[in-house]
Amino acid sequence: SSDMLIDSFGRFHNYLRISLTERCNLRCQYCMPAEGVELTPNSNLLSHDEIIRLADLFVSSGVDKIRLTGGEPTIRKDIEDICLHLSSLKGLKTLAMTTNGIVLAKKLPKLKECGLSAINISLDTLVPAKFEFMTRRKGHARVLESINTAIELGYNPVKVNCVVMRGMNDDEICDFVELTREKPINVRFIEFMPFDGNVWNIKKLVPYAEMLDKVRQQFKDVRRLQDHPTDTAKNFKVDGHSGTISFITSMTEHFCAGCNRLRLLADGNFKVCLFGPSEVSLRDPLRAGVDDLELKDIIGAAVKRKKRAHAGMFDIAKTANRPMIHIGG
Ligand code: GTP
Ligand code: 5AD
Ligand code: SF4
Repeated sequence: SSDMLIDSFGRFHNYLRISLTERCNLRCQYCMPAEGVELTPNSNLLSHDEIIRLADLFVSSGVDKIRLTGGEPTIRKDIEDICLHLSSLKGLKTLAMTTNGIVLAKKLPKLKECGLSAINISLDTLVPAKFEFMTRRKGHARVLESINTAIELGYNPVKVNCVVMRGMNDDEICDFVELTREKPINVRFIEFMPFDGNVWNIKKLVPYAEMLDKVRQQFKDVRRLQDHPTDTAKNFKVDGHSGTISFITSMTEHFCAGCNRLRLLADGNFKVCLFGPSEVSLRDPLRAGVDDLELKDIIGAAVKRKKRAHAGMFDIAKTANRPMIHIGG
């Protein structure tokens, strides 16, 4: 590895999130506006070969975990091919995906064969009608089926991402905890974060402390687990349950000090912080024919510009960024 991936605060970035598409088969309120977002023309999106070339460069520089995101990564036509090639990169330990689970059940056996080693599935409600309201589409039963398929295929733990919004699904927190009694899943309650077009508002944010309080009232035997320093989640377990629960506290207790994440967007822009508005294109120099050394210089310089932490939720909400659907979380 080289120092291309070390920022000016000494953080080593071994985790690359690659957004494979800006499209999605859902329209979640917390992710995009009802009218949708502008899509980058196909010719300006990274091709399979460009993704592999860039990923190869990152992995040979020390990245050992890649997560595929979107939009919705499973709707990309060459998803199996991409997984197959990424998983064969020497030095990569984890190939993960974050998906909405709508078409996953059918595709997962093949994706597993292609080397997909970890899976996070978004599910924000256990109530079918509410699912339709929150996502503006149908498909609740299919997501549940995908979670079960992932468990059956041996993914362990299957992580279930639940974005909690006040007045929307905050009454279901304990029902989600109840799911972990029998299922070997890790349910992650996520604080609602502001992105362009998602009408974020402090009143809709349910703080970590409040969520944990709710859980404690019904589950007395919930205890904190040890977290890894680079973990986005604070981890807990209810004694006797087969699964675990976690909280992703980006807003009330950010975890930037342990940040190990970089992002490559579908249009080839490189983003060093989820909330950092500054981006640099890797697609353009790539298409101009630069060699690996020049690419490494561009990447290294961007990493060195990474801020110590995000600016705080009120500043983030005011700063132009991108819609979540473009960033992929
Ligand atoms: P694991 O690798 O399984 O720990 O998953 P992850 O948390 O890294 O990724 P996932 O895509 O499941 O994201 C879960 C939630 O964490 C989403 O709401 C993401 O937006 C958020 N998240 C992921 N990475 C970051 C990050 O670097 N900073 C912040 N603030 N939030 C993040
Ligand atoms: N705040 C917090 N999490 C979000 N996600 C999408 N939008 C938001 C938001 N505004 C989550 C999705 C998915 C992950 C990539 O990010 O639910 O699980
Ligand atoms: Fe890393 Fe930025 Fe997320 Fe903080 S907000 S954890 S610095 S990506």
